[in-house]
Amino acid sequence: LWQVERVTDRAWEDWAAARPESSLLHLDSAAVGRSSRATLEAVAAHARLEAEIGGYVAQEQVRDRLDAARADVAGLLGSDADGVAFLESASAAFDALLDAWPLTPGDRVGVAASEWGPNLETFAHRGLVPVPLPVDAAGGLDLEALEQVLVSDPPALVHVDLVAAQRGLVQPGAEVVALARTHGVPVWLDAAQAVGHVAVPRGAAAVYATSRKWLTGPRGVGMLAVAPEHRDALRLRRLAKHADLPDVQHLESDEAHVAGRVGLGMAVREHLALVPERVHERLGDVGRLVRDSVAPLPGWEVVRPEAPAGSTTALVPTAGQDVGRVRERLLAEHRVLTSVCLPWRAPLEMGVRGPGEAFLRLSPHVDLTEESVERVCRALTSV
Ligand SMILES: Cc1ncc(COP(=O)(O)O)c(C=O)c1O
Repeated sequence: LWQVERVTDRAWEDWAAARPESSLLHLDSAAVGRSSRATLEAVAAHARLEAEIGGYVAQEQVRDRLDAARADVAGLLGSDADGVAFLESASAAFDALLDAWPLTPGDRVGVAASEWGPNLETFAHRGLVPVPLPVDAAGGLDLEALEQVLVSDPPALVHVDLVAAQRGLVQPGAEVVALARTHGVPVWLDAAQAVGHVAVPRGAAAVYATSRKWLTGPRGVGMLAVAPEHRDALRLRRLAKHADLPDVQHLESDEAHVAGRVGLGMAVREHLALVPERVHERLGDVGRLVRDSVAPLPGWEVVRPEAPAGSTTALVPTAGQDVGRVRERLLAEHRVLTSVCLPWRAPLEMGVRGPGEAFLRLSPHVDLTEESVERVCRALTSV
């Protein structure tokens, strides 16, 4: 019924073996990835150290590891360590950036239709006006048409959700950054679904992301990078007790999940050891394998299979299935973990088939096996 290629490789088996065993088939990295035992142990060990020697002393003791984590994250986000702030989530990083950036209510922000819904809500809450940028048939930003906009009616900034949560669409981030730079328009990248999944382009004005998804770091840690040429203009609340901190780090919470940052440092080291380009390539292969395998299944249609995408696949039911119920049955009867995407995730491009439109999202990590794909296909035909 379906064609499954063999894409197993020792490194990816090791990736799975490095994590706690699970009876579930996890296809939900776009929500929360599975941390390695080393990452979990790093978090737990730091929490224990805090109880043993005191939280602030413990923090001093791991100073080198925190500095290394910051430098590694800077590398992933295309920045330098001084330009990186650790926050509590991608949304918290986005909020901190909005607090600090010299924007004025009424300013227009260019977005693609695939933009993450809560970002649109946050812009509106701050009196900023999201304006749709031209996209092609697959939903990717149309570079030629974008250039026209940047010349004739430039927004205050361009905001690119690099990998869309609801269907894995990968935007041409590098090209948009290059184009917007030429026209003097800053670009912010939402890399929440991108870091650890696809390459994050260099040269953006700001990039923010989260630890817990594709990097498989702990929950409760997010990160932000601001390019050097924009740091002087940031509106910062500088606490006297932290007078010596680099500018961007004034955006960090004074009290923080330090154990989570230590854990993120471990997760990033593991990611770097696998070589990010190999991980990106592998996740692309995994996504293609899933899409090719589920495409012929009765009752389901892959959402925009022609669009550039990484691992994440979205399916719409064609036989009237209730996607929420399907997700529950996949979990309860088949032990397969997936997500439901409702239109709030991307209101500019979802909901067109009706207000109840929902996608079933499959977002496996590098350890997907051909047996797993067969299991998903069997499960999807029986729910
Ligand atoms: C594209 C995108 N942006 C932002 C976020 C928000 O990230 P966080 O939950 O870490 O605040 C998410 C989370 O799913 C996301 O998918």
